[in-house]
Amino acid sequence: MITLGIESSCDETAIAVLENGRTVLSSIVSSQIQTHAKWGGVVPEIAAREHASALNSVFCEAVSQAKIQPTEIDLIAVTQGPGLVGCLLVGASFAKGLAQILKKPVVPVNHIHAHVHGALLGIDKGDAEIYPTLALVASGGHTNLYYMTSPVQFSLVAHTIDDACGESFDKVGKMLGLPYPGGPHIERLARQGDPTKCKLPRMLERKSQMAFSYSGLKTAVANQVKLNSKDISHADIAAAFQTEAVGQLIRKIKIALELNSNVKSIVISGGVAANQYFQSTIQASTKVPCYFPGIVYCSDNGAMIAAMGYQDFIHTNGLVTSLHDWDVFSRYAFEQYKS
Ligand code: KG4
Ligand code: ZN
Repeated sequence: MITLGIESSCDETAIAVLENGRTVLSSIVSSQIQTHAKWGGVVPEIAAREHASALNSVFCEAVSQAKIQPTEIDLIAVTQGPGLVGCLLVGASFAKGLAQILKKPVVPVNHIHAHVHGALLGIDKGDAEIYPTLALVASGGHTNLYYMTSPVQFSLVAHTIDDACGESFDKVGKMLGLPYPGGPHIERLARQGDPTKCKLPRMLERKSQMAFSYSGLKTAVANQVKLNSKDISHADIAAAFQTEAVGQLIRKIKIALELNSNVKSIVISGGVAANQYFQSTIQASTKVPCYFPGIVYCSDNGAMIAAMGYQDFIHTNGLVTSLHDWDVFSRYAFEQYKS
């Protein structure tokens, strides 16, 4: 079964072609980072217009690299939300237009849930080996931990009560004078630092607190930077921050593991999943198999949307696609049809 995945929720226009929900035939990502750089952040109206002009060529490239004809597409999956509403409308309109022309079903996809399936692309394991799983989505906008009994059952175990994990990397990066996005730059700088030199608070330490918090940690780093201590370098601060930021994710995952002893795997996704220190530390701290996305599937892409859409389609026997009147304002209206 060939699934086309369309992502346009923020500043990446991305389309991918997938076979049987896990095998990527092509994945094209056109980033708008350069366009928005001069404004210091994503401008929603500009982003929506950029998607409108990029979608057709990204689609042609995706189909051509996958070596298929558009008529061979069986299913179209598109991000319904969350995201910038104008950007979502452009993607959804493109998907619906294509669906009309090709006479194929179109599935609305939850972008956050889709990140989880981005970590499972290309994995040669059956559902029985993966589920139940604990799935973390740690990106610039979200820090969600789910307990999942199947590819489409998402039960939220913990989420951030203030900043997202990736957002805290970006803010701390800015404090340390590093370019945006801060995550990869902090990771690089931290390799030269000593994490024990700078004392930072351990957030939400109590076991009963199943949530994430990064705001206090960010403030502690700001205070440390202001102190401008000769004995503590920026590399030391980066190392201490990374240790606590990642340590908090791992602590909470381990508590969730204790509470759910039937868990067979851990799935880590979102931009923060690209962090090598995170990957090696969590793998060293548990015997449960951990799955991470390939580096190109950590950030937003069409392959994860196609993978989630495929799962939604097969787990509802196609019912999800019969809701032709869905739009980006009626968020996840199809959820009710799943149970
Ligand atoms: O999932 P993503 O590409 O975009 C969304 O926010 O949807 O995540 C981007 C976030 C940024 O905050 C970035 O700083 C963070 O992921 N990130 C990292 C690393 N690479 C990207 N954080 C820590 N270490 C990294 N190597
Ligand atoms: Zn995302």
